[in-house]
Amino acid sequence: MIDLEQEAKSRLSPSRLAHVRGVVEASMDLAQRYAINGEKARQAAWLHDMFRELTQSQLEKLAHLSGTSVPFGPVPVWHGPICAMRMAQDFFIDDEDVKEAVKWHTVGHPEMGDVAQILYVADAIEKGRSFPFVDTLRAASQISLPLAVATVSDASLEHLLKNHVEIDVRTVQLRNKAWSLVTQDDRQWFDRQINLTN
Ligand SMILES: [Fe+2]
Ligand SMILES: [Fe+2]
Repeated sequence: MIDLEQEAKSRLSPSRLAHVRGVVEASMDLAQRYAINGEKARQAAWLHDMFRELTQSQLEKLAHLSGTSVPFGPVPVWHGPICAMRMAQDFFIDDEDVKEAVKWHTVGHPEMGDVAQILYVADAIEKGRSFPFVDTLRAASQISLPLAVATVSDASLEHLLKNHVEIDVRTVQLRNKAWSLVTQDDRQWFDRQINLTN
């Protein structure tokens, strides 16, 4: 079995490695809380940013090596889909849940499963992250998985809107689906937390 921590150490800068360690920790915590396969969550977390520091031309080469062209969307989101594509060959992990999690961790997808949802949330709320309301998102992640996904995707959309960048429709679809699964009590709880921190 490949040592994913060693792989990450050899490929990533210290600050990115610290982020990935934080994502592993947050993913394991969420997997335990929501009774989701911890080993898959751990693998997805270690793998998700493995290609984050490659250049555009290195990413293009890896995609072509797999017989495909580069993924749709801006360059900063390529590292997920290309890592998912190369996972079996480069890291000897060929699990569909892990692959889906790595593929969609930046953009999100309305049909993504539990392991992918955990990674999507953990990537945003790991202990090294700091942005407005991150503590409220951390608290929401402990209430229910739909609330965690709904509030993290809202925060991601707010960030994209503020920066006037392109929004992938799948992020919006994920957001809509997640909110449709949040209970009325959990919505009210979240609104109270936001009002308290405002
Ligand atoms: Fe990433
Ligand atoms: Fe990340």
